[in-house]
Amino acid sequence: MATLTDRAAWFIGASAQCDTTPENTGHVWHLVLLGPPGVGKGTQAEGLTQALGACHLSTGDVFRASKSTPVELRSPALKTALGAMGRGELVSDDLVVEMVRERSGCFRCQGGFLMDGFPRTVAQAQAFDAMLEEKGIALDAVVSYDLPLDEIVARLSGRRTCGTCKAVYHVTARPPKVADVCDACGGALLQREDDQPESIRVRLKAYEESTRPLEEYYRGTGRLVPVSADGSPDAILQRTLEALSQIAPTGGA
Ligand code: AP5
Repeated sequence: MATLTDRAAWFIGASAQCDTTPENTGHVWHLVLLGPPGVGKGTQAEGLTQALGACHLSTGDVFRASKSTPVELRSPALKTALGAMGRGELVSDDLVVEMVRERSGCFRCQGGFLMDGFPRTVAQAQAFDAMLEEKGIALDAVVSYDLPLDEIVARLSGRRTCGTCKAVYHVTARPPKVADVCDACGGALLQREDDQPESIRVRLKAYEESTRPLEEYYRGTGRLVPVSADGSPDAILQRTLEALSQIAPTGGA
């Protein structure tokens, strides 16, 4: 079984090294997880990391981690990004692309990667393609999750996230053993600022307008793998692994 990584290189940027890197003895997967806010991408990433050995690279996690930067040390760009995030709006393409570019060494992680939350617009997808091409890496698949709207809202409203290790829970569907305490590390479980009803509405609208077109974009590359996000996390994980077993890996390393 793969070990979870500390993801220091992804969180901190180019100069940082991870203390632990995934042990990957099989195919090195390069995947994008696509789908509306709350569909369960982060939850699936936990299982997929264990099953495939690939590192979970989430742009949302990087922005949330940057909230620990003291307010007086935040750059104007970071302040703008955090403001947009809190309201449920997308952060600007320029800023996100630059942030990912600074961390593009992670694309060559020996475990491979699961990109979660990026790209989110066609402009970001084009910039991502160029970065991957520079590094000689081809995406194996873009796993596209979907779920009816009312179930998405229920998942987002009940979500709790560990402030320390970022593990994801749900008050009814995936509760921790002890209320508000992370099973994995004992950290406090928190509700995300953007899981309030008004921010959820804005995020879902942004998804339909800006991110939904990526399904067509990646269908055109032949790499779109649609997977239903209905059912338990384990059932969805098995469905995802089954779908991945049907595709021919690119061999791009
Ligand atoms: P980001 O962190 O990427 O959030 P998101 O895409 O909105 O996705 P979420 O993390 O909300 O949901 P998820 O699909 O991972 O669901 P989860 O597994 O947690 O981005 C946040 C913000 O950052 C954006 O709004 C934007 O401002 C900014 N940003 C980030 N990247 C950007 C970019 N590229 N461009 C511009 N801006 C960017 O599950 C949700 C809940 O459901 C949990 O409680 C979970 O326990 C529960 N659950 C999961 N699976 C199941 C199941 N099968 N059954 C029942 N419950 C389940």
